[in-house]
Order: sequence, then C-alpha cells, then structure tokens
Amino acid sequence: HWELKQVVEVLSLCLVMGTRCSAAVKREYNIQHGQCSYTFLLPEPENCQTQSSNYPVQKDGPMDQDESAQRLEQLEMTMENNTQWLLKLENYIQDSMKQDIVQLQQTAVHNHTATMIEIGTNLLSQTAEQTRKLTNVEAQVIHHTARLERRLLENSLSTNKLEKQLIVQTNEINKLKDKTSILEKKLMDMEEQKQVDLKTLQDEKEQLETLILRQTALIGEMEEQLLRVSSNNTFLQQQQQELLDTVNGLIQTISAGSVPESKSVMMRDTPSTFLDCAAVFKSGNTQSGVYTLTLPNTTTEVKAFCDMETDGGGWTVLQKRFDGTVDFNRTWQEYKKGFGEPSKEFWLGNEFISRLTNQHSYKLRIELSDWEGNSGFSQYDEFSLESEAQNYRIHFKGYSGTAGKISSIGQSGSDFSTKDADNDKCVCKCSQLITGGWWFDACGPSNLNGIYYQQRQNSNRFNGIKWYYWKGSRYSLKSTAMMVRPADF
Ligand SMILES: *[C@@H]1O[C@H](CO)[C@@H](O)[C@H](O)[C@H]1NC(C)=O
Ligand SMILES: *[C@@H]1O[C@H](CO)[C@@H](O)[C@H](O)[C@H]1NC(C)=O
Ligand SMILES: *[C@@H]1O[C@H](CO)[C@@H](O)[C@H](O)[C@H]1NC(C)=O
Ligand SMILES: *[C@@H]1O[C@H](CO)[C@@H](O)[C@H](O)[C@H]1NC(C)=O
Ligand SMILES: *[C@@H]1O[C@H](CO)[C@@H](O)[C@H](O)[C@H]1NC(C)=O
Repeated sequence: HWELKQVVEVLSLCLVMGTRCSAAVKREYNIQHGQCSYTFLLPEPENCQTQSSNYPVQKDGPMDQDESAQRLEQLEMTMENNTQWLLKLENYIQDSMKQDIVQLQQTAVHNHTATMIEIGTNLLSQTAEQTRKLTNVEAQVIHHTARLERRLLENSLSTNKLEKQLIVQTNEINKLKDKTSILEKKLMDMEEQKQVDLKTLQDEKEQLETLILRQTALIGEMEEQLLRVSSNNTFLQQQQQELLDTVNGLIQTISAGSVPESKSVMMRDTPSTFLDCAAVFKSGNTQSGVYTLTLPNTTTEVKAFCDMETDGGGWTVLQKRFDGTVDFNRTWQEYKKGFGEPSKEFWLGNEFISRLTNQHSYKLRIELSDWEGNSGFSQYDEFSLESEAQNYRIHFKGYSGTAGKISSIGQSGSDFSTKDADNDKCVCKCSQLITGGWWFDACGPSNLNGIYYQQRQNSNRFNGIKWYYWKGSRYSLKSTAMMVRPADF
C-alpha cells in the first residue's frame, strides 16, 4: 500500500517534469530504511532535454514572449510542486522515522517485556515450585492435623463415654444414697416406734407392779394384824409358861434349898467375851440358844442365836425366818445394826458379820425348808463381807449342798442394797421392787429377806423369800437360816 502510493507520487512527479520524458529512460533510486525498502523511479534530465528541444525558448532566440512567460510560470509551479513534494517526502520520511523509532522503542519495550516475561515466567515457575512445595508441606500439615483431629475426636469421644459412665454411676450412687437414707429413716422410725412401745410397756409394767405392791402391802398389813393378834395369844401363853417356870423354880429352890443350879441356868445369858458361837461351843456350851458375843476389837456386845446341833454345831446364826413376825423391809442403818429378836426372827447385823468374817476364814451355811415338808441346804467354804465403805460387798467360794449351785445366792462381788441404798446392777431399784436388804445383782436369783408369805399364799410371789435354784422364782419359802462357822472349826 505504502509502495504503491510512492509509485503514484513518482509517476505524478514524472508527469510534472515533462510530458516529453521518455518512460523508458528512468533511473531507479533505492532507499533502505529498516525493514522497508523504497524504490524511486525518477526520469533522467537528458531525455527530458531532447523533448524540450521542441520548445523554441531554448533553441532559438526569436520566440513568443507569452509562450516563454507561460513556461516560466509552469516551471515555477513545478518547482513549487517539487518543493512541496520534497517537503511532503521529508515530512513522510520524518513520519516514518518517527514510526520506526516508535517501533524500535516498542520492540525494546517488547524485549524488556519479554525479558520481564521471561523473568516473570522464571519467577512464576519458581513460585510454582515453591507453591508446590508449600502445597506439599501444607498437605502434610493437613494430614497431621487431620490425624491429630481424629485422635482428638477419638479422645473426646472416649472422654464423653467416660463422662456418661460417670454420670450413670453417680446417678446410681445417688439412688443408693436415697435408698439408704430411706432405709435409715425407716429404721429410725421403727426404733422410735419400738422405744415408744417399750416405754408404754414399761409404764404398764410399773403400773402393774405398783398395783401388786399396793395389794401385797394391804395383804401384809392384814397378815401383820392377824399375827399381832395371834402373837398376843402366844405372848400370853409365854407369860403363863414363864410364870409356871418361875413357880416351879421357886418350888424346886424351896424344896432343894440350893441356888447353884439356877445359877447355871442363868449362865446361858451371862455376858462373856465370846467372839462367835464356835468359841461358845468350845467353852462347853453345846445347847442351842441365845448367847452374848463381843464385836471384834470393841467392847460392843451382841446377842446372837447359836445353833449347836446342825452339822456338829458351833454356828453363829446371821439370819432366821420361820413365821413372818418380823418385818424385813428395813433401812440401811437397820440392816447395819441388826433387828429382830435373837430367839425369834432376826438379822444379826452387817457390821458384826463384816467384822467377824474379816477376822478369820468362815464357812457359810444356808438352811432352807418349803411348805411341803422338804428341806435343803447350801454351803460355801469361804464367805466374807467387806466393810460398809464397800457396801458390805459379799464374797463366797466353794459350793456344796442340796439346794442349788454356786450362783444360788447370786454373783460373788455384789454390793448390799436396801430400800434407801440402791447399789444393785439394775436400772430399777431391786430392794424397793422385791423388798428387803440383799446382795442384789439385777435383781439376782435369791432374796431370803423378802416378804414372808404364809402357807397357800406362798406361790406366784415375785417379792417373797426366794431361792430360784431350789424352788423357782415365784415360790416363797417357809423357813430360812443363815449361819457361819470358822473354816477350821
Ligand atoms: C502543480 O500541482 C498542482 C496541484 O498539485 C497542479 O494543479 C498544477 O498543474 C501543477 N503544475 C505543474 C506545472 O505541473
Ligand atoms: C530485541 O531482541 C532481539 C533478539 O531477541 C535482538 O536481535 C534485537 O537487537 C533486540 N532489540 C533491541 C532494540 O534491543
Ligand atoms: C417397804 O417400806 C416402804 C417405806 O419405807 C414402803 O413404801 C413400802 O410399801 C414397803 N414395802 C412393803 C412390801 O411393805
Ligand atoms: C396385845 O396385848 C397387849 C397386852 O399384852 C395389848 O396392850 C395390845 O393392845 C394387844 N395388841 C393387840 C393387837 O391386840
Ligand atoms: C482386831 O484385833 C485382831 C487381834 O485380836 C487383829 O489381828 C486385827 O488386826 C484387829 N483388827 C482391826 C480392824 O483392828
């Protein structure tokens, strides 16, 4: 496109130069510029001269003045056109140059760009490599993370399981606790109920006992009255007998005229310094009866009944009951000093017994008889009472006999109790409950100081004269005697 235009221009120039120029005589002008090559065909000036020779101006002198002016004008215009063309050409060349420079610059830019692109590509590839490595690392990291996450998940799962189990177990424990507390409550309720029941039972029992006691007291009073009446009778009889005796004695004295015999009779009651009935027996007094003994290491005298018949005699009798004439529902002081009459029913006295049995080793013998005519005995090889400070604590050992066994009395080591001195091992007060002073345990299998019940009234008595191992707990005996004798008698 660009060459064609050039050619046209050149042709037009040729036309400008002169119609008379031969087209065959032309000269080529090549201009190399960058990648473009320009070919200019320009007519040779000689050829054109030949044609112009036709013009008279140049050849002959005498020429038309108008014609030469025209030619000049034409030449001037051609010149002008040429100049313009040249200007155009120049402009064009300048334009192309500019374009080329621009192109060159563009290529340079392209080269730069290429280099840049290359570098970029390099960089890209490197980046790609790095990215790949990174991706690898990332993949590994992700892998590891995934594994860790899985483990974590597993752990959390097992933790959840454990938690669940824990919750279940705690629930069960709570349930058990609830159950236990319910059971405890029930137990407590039952215990309370039981205690209430027990209390009511105890109350009832106490009421019954007081009732029984009141009744027995009434009976006792009646019996006492009866006895008093009958004793008045016996008292009168005794007085009669005594009077008769004295009368007889007087008659004998008068008839015999001697006094000594009556003196020997009186000897029985004459005070002497016998420690016990064994001493009396050894002194030659072998008849049972009342003798005066002296309390060991004192001058205090005590009247005591001596049994000189049973098992060889020499027995100092501590207690005797056979008709219920003496009340044994007594105080500590009375049991300490003794009460009753030595010839009838009596208690010799704890102080005397204690002192005596601490002097020597003594045997204890207990004689018993029931309302059916049977009798039996219990004998202990060793017997002693401690002092009052030790509540006249009893000690015994070595049983023999026909009425029971070793524990017939009760527990060796039991303290003495009376209605006003409760030293027993019962929460109750045995002495007030079953009456009399005794070595109660709780309350023990024996009480020879209970209430005396007459025949046919002696059964079903809880507070009678009791010897459980012979007659059971409800039987009240007919007669009792407790006696001591030195072990070496
Ligand atoms: C010069 O160029 C103009 C326009 O380009 C044209 O009209 C004129 O005839 C030309 N003159 C000659 C002598 O060729
Ligand atoms: C552009 O690069 C080509 C080869 O790649 C080289 O021949 C040419 O001279 C370079 N041009 C410039 C202006 O750097
Ligand atoms: C025993 O004596 C007390 C008073 O000292 C009395 O209250 C009680 O009723 C008596 N017991 C009997 C069975 O007589
Ligand atoms: C018993 O006899 C005596 C006289 O010896 C008398 O004073 C007393 O009142 C009598 N007792 C009774 C209960 O009869
Ligand atoms: C009592 O007297 C006897 C000697 O007769 C003596 O061995 C004993 O230790 C005395 N007892 C007391 C408690 O003084």
